[in-house]
Amino acid sequence: MKSTLTTLPKPSPEAIALSNALTQEIHSVIKKSGPIPFSQFMQMALYHGQLGYYQNDLKKFGESGDFVTAPEISPLFSHCLANQYLELAEKLQVNQIIEFGAGSGRMALDILHYLKQINQLPEQYLIIETSPSLQERQKQLLQSQLPEYFSHIQWLSALPEQFEGIILGNEVMDAMPVDLYQKHQDNIVKAYVDAVDGELTWLWQTTEDVALPKDEDYQEGYAFEYNAYLSPWVASLSDCLKKGGILLVDYGYPKSELLHPQRTERTFTCHYRHHTHDDPLSYIGLQDLTAHVDFTDLVEAAEANNLVLAGYTTQAQFLMGAGLLEFAASLNTVEQLNAAQQIKTLTLPSEMGERFQVMALCTEEVSNLRGFVFDLSHRL
Ligand SMILES: C[S@@+](CC[C@H](N)C(=O)[O-])C[C@H]1O[C@@H](n2cnc3c(N)ncnc32)[C@H](O)[C@@H]1O
Repeated sequence: MKSTLTTLPKPSPEAIALSNALTQEIHSVIKKSGPIPFSQFMQMALYHGQLGYYQNDLKKFGESGDFVTAPEISPLFSHCLANQYLELAEKLQVNQIIEFGAGSGRMALDILHYLKQINQLPEQYLIIETSPSLQERQKQLLQSQLPEYFSHIQWLSALPEQFEGIILGNEVMDAMPVDLYQKHQDNIVKAYVDAVDGELTWLWQTTEDVALPKDEDYQEGYAFEYNAYLSPWVASLSDCLKKGGILLVDYGYPKSELLHPQRTERTFTCHYRHHTHDDPLSYIGLQDLTAHVDFTDLVEAAEANNLVLAGYTTQAQFLMGAGLLEFAASLNTVEQLNAAQQIKTLTLPSEMGERFQVMALCTEEVSNLRGFVFDLSHRL
């Protein structure tokens, strides 16, 4: 396994063997068809067969994994999403949920626990999860914790042809493959992955795939990424959603902030056991690869597909509006002590509060949603 990163924890021999096997698969593709765009490399590194990062059995979530997501930090995050689901479901007269990319299953469990407590369980909770290994984990968790509701939970391999309900996704878009670009003289160059002397290497080629805004002054080497999967994904959601809404949480910014000329580094990052670094050609299949979401691209794709923006704000503002402090106040003293730290992590600007943003999209005009009282749509 190639590794230029000597300070990271050492993978186990099994993990190294898995990474080597996946690296060989990538070499075979390059041998057959030449250098591949970085997005194709990322697609393989994350989703290839049983070897890709999200496909294999290695632990990803939580303290002993590579990263922690909001639902893993506190059930209050999921309870707030459930509150926003309830308001949307009532306004739009729907009663089903689809969750995209359910990870460990924690968010589904906490949403359903809360909805059960208040007697508002949805008719069905559908999960679309590409990873067979994570699907298995989700099934085990939900079957053991919610046996009486389990028959209402279904795993789908693709979106249904028609759906009326609310689609939820936390940190799904950031796991989509992106292409990497840089400004080089008067051109834009795009990253490819090549193989030279048995090693994966970078190759940069001039491209006209994307452009930087003309009226801004970008320095030589200015690095950015583009997610070409986002727009077709939104189109597929819109195609199937006959009536309802989509609630998406992810780290990202509006385009004007993501492509700010003074930003010095791209947002693309690798996560390995809670260390972040920028070498995706190491630890292949063992580390998460992610990039921030361009929320301007998201809303533009949504509007081009007849969806209506119903709100956009930071995670901190969303959680406050959706009942975070009311939930915290209802806890006993010991629970409140634990929750205090979790709430800080979810809401402080220096933690997840502002780097994560929330967007609601609907099939029809919906206003005054509780999570979006502090609306930032004008920034998009
Ligand atoms: C960063 S994890 C987030 C997991 C979970 N939502 C959470 O917040 O803990 C990304 C999840 O999306 C899944 N995923 C990625 N692309 C997907 C797709 N196109 N359809 C469904 N699931 C996908 C991954 O397998 C994984 O479960």
